Amino acid sequence: MSRRILVLDTTLRDGEQVPGAKLNLYEKLEIAQQLKALNVDIIEAGFPSSSAGDFNAVSEIAKAVGDGPMITALSRAVRSDIDSVYQSVRWAERPLIHIVLGASDVHVEKKFGKSKDDILSMGVEAVKYAKSLLPDVQYSTEDASRADFEYLWKTVEAVVKAGATMINIPDTVGYAVPEEFGELVKRINYRLKNLNDRVILSVHCHNDTGLATANTLAAVKNGADKIECTINGLGERAGNCALEEAVMGIRLRPDYYGAHTGIITKEIYKTSRMVSNITGLDVQVNKALTGDNAFAHSSGIHQDGLLKSKDVYEIISPEDVGVEGMELVLTARSGRHAFKDTVSRMGYEAQNEKDFEELFSKFLQLADTKKEVYNHDVYYLIDKHNRDKS
Ligand code: KIV
Ligand code: ZN
Repeated sequence: MSRRILVLDTTLRDGEQVPGAKLNLYEKLEIAQQLKALNVDIIEAGFPSSSAGDFNAVSEIAKAVGDGPMITALSRAVRSDIDSVYQSVRWAERPLIHIVLGASDVHVEKKFGKSKDDILSMGVEAVKYAKSLLPDVQYSTEDASRADFEYLWKTVEAVVKAGATMINIPDTVGYAVPEEFGELVKRINYRLKNLNDRVILSVHCHNDTGLATANTLAAVKNGADKIECTINGLGERAGNCALEEAVMGIRLRPDYYGAHTGIITKEIYKTSRMVSNITGLDVQVNKALTGDNAFAHSSGIHQDGLLKSKDVYEIISPEDVGVEGMELVLTARSGRHAFKDTVSRMGYEAQNEKDFEELFSKFLQLADTKKEVYNHDVYYLIDKHNRDKS
């Protein structure tokens, strides 16, 4: 039987930690609504104790998103942080408190300067307090991939007994390798399911050596019920597991993983471009699934093979991630017809003739300054046009 893997998107929290990716309230609300359209299971909307602005943004997202995804926000294992999370996510239809506390020796000793027992009690107290406020509490064992296994398990066992409903195993510094991380998840999963089989086991992988997606998928293969990701792999340092990569990896090989997600994959490209436009952080041209070249075939041998049958060189159809067929490169000489065709393939329907003419004239202005106008430029135009109207 295929397992349903939950997807938590942390673009608005871990993703926003990228230097230069500071987002204003309206930009965060726009991304949150698009994450809902993508059908993520949980939106991590911010770190409310970090600033009044972040507190306000999490509260507004919790109010605006309505039915659908759970809304969570990050808290350290201290009451004041947990209060901030509770006060901001409580407006959501399905709020969740997310607590993080170090689990590795280096975190316990060097970051906190405490004993392992003290840190464990701190975690348990935090979960008990959060649980007195909301039924759903996630506990993240920070730096789990470098932690002593028996201490990690002791922590997991104690916080589950204190009421945690989700346990997150982060590879905080991107130290893990797939086989080893899969094994870690398998061991935790085995004990956890014996302890309480309703508790959700989650992973959160960073990309310091380019293995975030591989580690996430190894975790899914070994029993993880939930994955934490960001759009375009944004996140601290080299970033987090890219949602589009993990989700399409599972979708491409459902029998291998014995799993599926609820993501509406046709919304992937639009979400990726929206996040790129709003954050100002480009998607690299050869980025898996959403880069400009992801579905472009240039060599003669490949083109010849594709013309015979698409599946010779195409394992995922561009339409599945919302890229409608081959890219049409527009220029200032492209007429209204080609432009209309491009925008309608991107899902944009002009309200009336005047609306379309305004968008077309913005396109002509851009085409005058750029030699070639690509799909991502048109997405940007549509996105900006929509925001100018609202
Ligand atoms: O990388 C990390 O450990 C985190 C936790 C808050 C889950 O971002
Ligand atoms: Zn992280």
